[in-house]
Amino acid sequence: MMPTRFCLAAFILIAVMSAQNAKPASAIQQQPFGAHDGKPITLYTLTNSHGIEVRAMNYGGILVSIRVPDRKGEFADVVLGHDSLQGYEPNPPYIGAIIGRYANRIANGSFALDGKTYTLPKNDGPNTLHGGVSKTFDRVVWDGETKGKNEVVFTYLSHDGDDGFPGNVKVRVSYTLTDGNALLIDYEATSDKATPINLTNHSYFNLAGEGNGDILNHQIMINADRFTPVNKNLIPTGELRPVKGTPLDFTKPTKIGARIDDNYEQLTLAHGYDHNFVINQKPEQNGLKLAARVYEPTSGRTLEVWTTQPGIQFYTGNFLDGSVVGKQGHVYKRRYAFCLETQHFPDSPNHPDFPNTILRPGETFHEKAVFKFGEK
Ligand code: GLA
Repeated sequence: MMPTRFCLAAFILIAVMSAQNAKPASAIQQQPFGAHDGKPITLYTLTNSHGIEVRAMNYGGILVSIRVPDRKGEFADVVLGHDSLQGYEPNPPYIGAIIGRYANRIANGSFALDGKTYTLPKNDGPNTLHGGVSKTFDRVVWDGETKGKNEVVFTYLSHDGDDGFPGNVKVRVSYTLTDGNALLIDYEATSDKATPINLTNHSYFNLAGEGNGDILNHQIMINADRFTPVNKNLIPTGELRPVKGTPLDFTKPTKIGARIDDNYEQLTLAHGYDHNFVINQKPEQNGLKLAARVYEPTSGRTLEVWTTQPGIQFYTGNFLDGSVVGKQGHVYKRRYAFCLETQHFPDSPNHPDFPNTILRPGETFHEKAVFKFGEK
């Protein structure tokens, strides 16, 4: 009698313990990831029911890793990054980070707004790139909080005068991983003074797996009939040029490497692709327009990007030069990744005819991006 009862009790105990330990498929895990300026950094891990895993931290709102399967079901991390916080401090190529207050370039570090001229720090020749030099959104500590079973929300208060920009800006960026294998990025901001704002995420993708060679064999379709050509400082000239007949025509899926070194002035100026494309209005779903589709033939992994924003910067990692040593000692060389930065057009504050980037008191800036993963 005793042994049976004992066995039953032991069985119940084990069953209860394992039920407590069992994690629901879509739990958010949190772990300490060091400290920056004495502030604790947390690494949040979102997992969906297919085992896809996205990690993000509250330093720079950085997307630390995205693990997705290939056509055989083998998982790889498809974004560049580092194994520890220290690797991201500093982070000159802006790997994985939220970019603000103004993503991309502002010419001559200057813009005029409501009759006043504002001067910004220059960090890219004569330009201000990705918000400036000190309290830019990629290198500050955000507050992080989880919501529901698959969302992490980062908030930050950017002060009036930070990096020369006017207004106290409250910004909120959330990452949601869906069971449809999509990462949704939701950007919101309000300000107490009129200010330019342009927010993006600067993830570097390699669908063959980070560190696994260059991206020249990936095929990309960019849903854009026009792009914004640049001058020698990579500032838009103001023209919206048709892609037709140029090496920037990706309206049909084309290998990234097929024309990247063509003798075409725009490619020579940017040392490859580093251009803002004007996203076509269709196809559109719930206010989001299809921006790009990427396919990596060896692994079969695919990525689809949708956004509410009017532009997308296609950047082929031309400035990666092997000086960044990332995850597991991987050396990130030239063109080892591509970025698809959903955004407003570069230098819009100096181009009144570009879609508006001025956020005024009482208004809410609200944009979305969807990065949907798959395999074929
Ligand atoms: C953006 C720019 C590039 C480069 C990277 C960061 O994509 O357009 O020119 O500055 O950021 O290295």
